[in-house]
Amino acid sequence: MYKFIQQCRACGDPAVKLVPVFDLGVQPLANSFRTKDEEQSGYAPLKVLFCEKCSLAQLSVVVDPVILYQHYTYETSKSATMRLHFQNLWDCIRAHGPHESVIEIGSNDGDFLMHASRNGAASVLGIDASENFSRVARLRGINTLFGILDDYTADMASRAIPKADVVLARHVFCHADDWQKFMRNIDTMANRETLIVIEVPYAGDTIKRGEFDQIYHEHLSYLGFKAMTALLEPTPFRIHSVRRFSVHGGVVAFFIRRRDFGGEPFPDSVAIAESENITVDDWCRLAVHARQEIDALRGRVAALPGSAVVGGYGASAKSTVWLNACGFSKRQVRFVTDTTPSKIGRLIPGTEIPVLAESAIKSEHPDCMICFAWNYKREIIEKEAEYLSNGGQFIFPHEP
Ligand code: TMP
Ligand code: ZN
Repeated sequence: MYKFIQQCRACGDPAVKLVPVFDLGVQPLANSFRTKDEEQSGYAPLKVLFCEKCSLAQLSVVVDPVILYQHYTYETSKSATMRLHFQNLWDCIRAHGPHESVIEIGSNDGDFLMHASRNGAASVLGIDASENFSRVARLRGINTLFGILDDYTADMASRAIPKADVVLARHVFCHADDWQKFMRNIDTMANRETLIVIEVPYAGDTIKRGEFDQIYHEHLSYLGFKAMTALLEPTPFRIHSVRRFSVHGGVVAFFIRRRDFGGEPFPDSVAIAESENITVDDWCRLAVHARQEIDALRGRVAALPGSAVVGGYGASAKSTVWLNACGFSKRQVRFVTDTTPSKIGRLIPGTEIPVLAESAIKSEHPDCMICFAWNYKREIIEKEAEYLSNGGQFIFPHEP
């Protein structure tokens, strides 16, 4: 079901010993929401190893992608926060130069490409490993190849759009095991002028903000500028500029160009890369902090009156991490609400806690909701003003 990692995915140095820095034991796959009649699709160690040479942190195992993605329910958020982010990211891409043709790897249901095609991109193409989401994207008018990024899909994409101005990979990059192969396939789709954009959660933010719930089996890697620089070293590419955004608890977009494109990388990018210092100690502090936060949430729920109805808000993968790390069952958390149709009616992985539609916040009269979609806090507080004014409470698990 999974294989163990032997060496650093970014610098690839076989002499570097990877240091274990974080361990939540054996955990269910965070997005494997099952129905009552289905078996849990499996458990795997959730442990992070750190490379002291290039600062990449990576999971100790790679779960078989077929198991991980066969019933993939992750749908790009339709929230106002994400819409604004897509706009910001697209504006940033446009500021870099030509943007008439765009290929997106891991295009999900085509949301970003829809935004791009409504705002200046004449031809767009998605590549996505979920059959379901590629079909949805096609129905929405976004031409989409079904499949993971491999030699075949890269070749097909380069035939469909021979000289893409932009090749974009958002969070899919951290789901990939073989980065050198990933970059070779990007190379197939990119010509000398192509702008390559890779967006990932920024490891510096994950650590600084104590967001251990970003760590789950799909996220194989936790990286910053140093690791990205190391992994690009044997490739024809280099970082041209970087931009950080606050969505998803802090992400970084790397704007990458061919080395022979000409011009120097943006000086600010070089400065940021050189000043970054993510250490083993930072990761160990995150591990201690995680344990404290897990204990604190258990304590807060235990302190509520026995009659209190507790729900969860947002069946994000983060909710699976929290609920399992806390050892919560239906007795402590009766349900979790979510807006995603494919999650509703299923169970939080590793538990019997059902995912209910958003309306449950009205019908189930929860005294308290643990907000697992904390990355949309502002939006959710606004949306649930009535619940709050009627005496309802939110717990934001990263906040005291
Ligand atoms: P994400 O952080 O990975 O985008 O997941 C957030 C989850 O929370 C996703 O399943 C959608 C859900 N959600 C709600 O149920 N209600 C909301 O208002 C928002 C913003 C998200
Ligand atoms: Zn390394």
